[in-house]
Amino acid sequence: MRDRSGGTQVTLKKGVADPALFALLAELPRESVIDVTGTVRKSEKSNRGVELFPDRIDVLTRAGVPLPLGVVDKVSADLDTRLNHRVLDLRKPEVRAIFEVRTALLAGFRDAFLDRGFLEIETPKILRAGAEGGATLFAVDYFGSPAYLAQSPQLYKQMLIGAGFERVFEIAPAFRAEPSDTVRHLTEFGSLDAEIGYIDGVEDVRRILEEVLAAAIDSARRRLAGWANPFAPRLPEVRTPFPRIPFASAERWLGRAGAGIDFGTEDEKAIGEWAVKEHGNPFYYLIDFPTSTKERTFYAQRQDADPSRTWYFDLDYRGTEIVSGGSREHRLDRVISNLKSAGLDPASFEGYLEAFRFGMPPHGGWGLGVDRLVMVLLGLGNVREARLFPRDRYRLDP
Ligand code: 4AD
Repeated sequence: MRDRSGGTQVTLKKGVADPALFALLAELPRESVIDVTGTVRKSEKSNRGVELFPDRIDVLTRAGVPLPLGVVDKVSADLDTRLNHRVLDLRKPEVRAIFEVRTALLAGFRDAFLDRGFLEIETPKILRAGAEGGATLFAVDYFGSPAYLAQSPQLYKQMLIGAGFERVFEIAPAFRAEPSDTVRHLTEFGSLDAEIGYIDGVEDVRRILEEVLAAAIDSARRRLAGWANPFAPRLPEVRTPFPRIPFASAERWLGRAGAGIDFGTEDEKAIGEWAVKEHGNPFYYLIDFPTSTKERTFYAQRQDADPSRTWYFDLDYRGTEIVSGGSREHRLDRVISNLKSAGLDPASFEGYLEAFRFGMPPHGGWGLGVDRLVMVLLGLGNVREARLFPRDRYRLDP
């Protein structure tokens, strides 16, 4: 018998227990839900140190047969089969343990943010315009007008800096019409966003990010120790500050100095191996992305001394990007000219621009992929394992 606390051995003794109970358990399908009343006795024989000798067993619901996916079987099904029957899959203690880690990490993040004066925000997920580029927008028919699912809370978290909230965070789904079928892309993912006002340059953002991340992982490790979670020992001791590797150095190391193109998955892996060996830390920042990469986004602040570089950074863990962030452009005229050079119409961003028109502090922040973080920390092979009901190019069920 199994519940969230683990397994309990139910024992029927021949000649002692009611023969009707034998008959009942012999024909009851596995995974049925039962209510057992009886006597608990100390026992060396069971893992839990006790056995339950029943006087009465009520069947609350009978499970159907055959099970499409074994719950206690040792043989493991492939990921697709598991995800097709996710409710049964999630009954496995080792799968549930992933979501205990996720819960503990998010609780750790919330505590770390609250300790530092951040307000938790919930921003709209149905928008008139996208913020992260047109290619991955999901269109929605909004009562006959076009609208889009939010790719990130980017514009709204910045607007709340304009509202004087000064430090905000959000943990919510973000949507990307991501056609690529990879082990680290979903079409709906958990995004942990923060935005901070009155920064004195992008270093303030990186410092707060590494502090918050270290505090969250530390708190998760402590919390999980009390839950006997098998993954707890995998959470690393986080050593800060993380190394800061300029984009240009990583390029030079890849043998393509000055190319100014985005790092692909293989590049990221290669940089990861080099960076971890060089600096001895699984976490490292890649900083100062040029405007020729994806970080050319209109809200990214350009460097005054060299406008072909931004103050944008990624945070990677052993070759996988888990965060991107930076300082934002807070001057209205530059935001408008960035929008125009990105081919976007400032008129569609009026609500966003108004936040800049009446006083906007210098600010910056980041977006962290929660599913990716759980995947890399636990060494899972696929980001889908870190999400309860993952969505991807081919999966909309269950
Ligand atoms: O790099 P991204 O697109 O940055 C933003 O959304 C910015 N608004 C963040 C900011 O504040 N500047 O996404 C941020 C993180 C990525 O590093 C990655 O971990 C995760 O979100 N992510 C995805 N995770 C799973 N599937 C996808 N399709 C993802 N796209 C981004």
